[in-house]
Amino acid sequence: MILIKLGGSIITNKEKPLSVRKKAIENISKSLRKINEPIIIVHGGGSYGHYWSVKYDMHTKEKKYDLRGVAIVKNSMIELNKIILDSMLKNKLNPYSLPPTDFMSGNKPITKKIKEIAKIARTGLIPVTYGDALWYGQKKTYILSGDKIMTHIAKILKPRLCIFALNEDGLYSDLKSKKLIYELKGERATISENKMDVTGGMSRKVEEASKIAKIGLNVFFVNGNKPERIVKAVKNRTFEGTLFRGKRNV
Ligand code: IPE
Repeated sequence: MILIKLGGSIITNKEKPLSVRKKAIENISKSLRKINEPIIIVHGGGSYGHYWSVKYDMHTKEKKYDLRGVAIVKNSMIELNKIILDSMLKNKLNPYSLPPTDFMSGNKPITKKIKEIAKIARTGLIPVTYGDALWYGQKKTYILSGDKIMTHIAKILKPRLCIFALNEDGLYSDLKSKKLIYELKGERATISENKMDVTGGMSRKVEEASKIAKIGLNVFFVNGNKPERIVKAVKNRTFEGTLFRGKRNV
């Protein structure tokens, strides 16, 4: 089982509200066809979900946010999800769309439902879910990031590899020279803040990746503009990006 997060920065143009990176999505779909293992896809919000959540001042903390914002964020994520599904269908993949309401109750994942997602993936369908605005309870809602969903699913399903497709080659030890970190074994990386993201940008990804690696799973940060690197990582276990080696694999 391979769990893949398509970051918002790879599937959308973060500089421009409500714009997708069609070609990048298309290339990723094409590459996914080359993987002969069960796959689960999670995607981010980019210039769709994030754009609206910033507008309506919605965050990951459970609060009584503007209901209009909740409705609009959810709607925009369905729109983005549809674009991804269309691209997958066009490239002869069989996506199975699952809004996170399917497997989340409040801010907790429903284990039984997540195990069902694994069964769906094993048939050859590709479950596709995404970060979203979610009901919490007592009139409160919150933004659930795709990165958090990665951790929820990883903890329950223990996939062979978790991949974060980014708009960068991986994690850099030095932002100026873009010196790539090839492998991390439990040490914490420090990154600069990205103010636009309500869910915390790169620092959230590193935080979630570290959590996943801590339970013993391998996590790989890869450039989603070069989706053949995803295929290589899955097939040949050669990692052109940053690999967080899971503790039991060190
Ligand atoms: C987006 O999920 C959540 C919403 C704002 C609706 P992510 O936080 O995982 O999105 P990206 O990948 O950083 O864009």
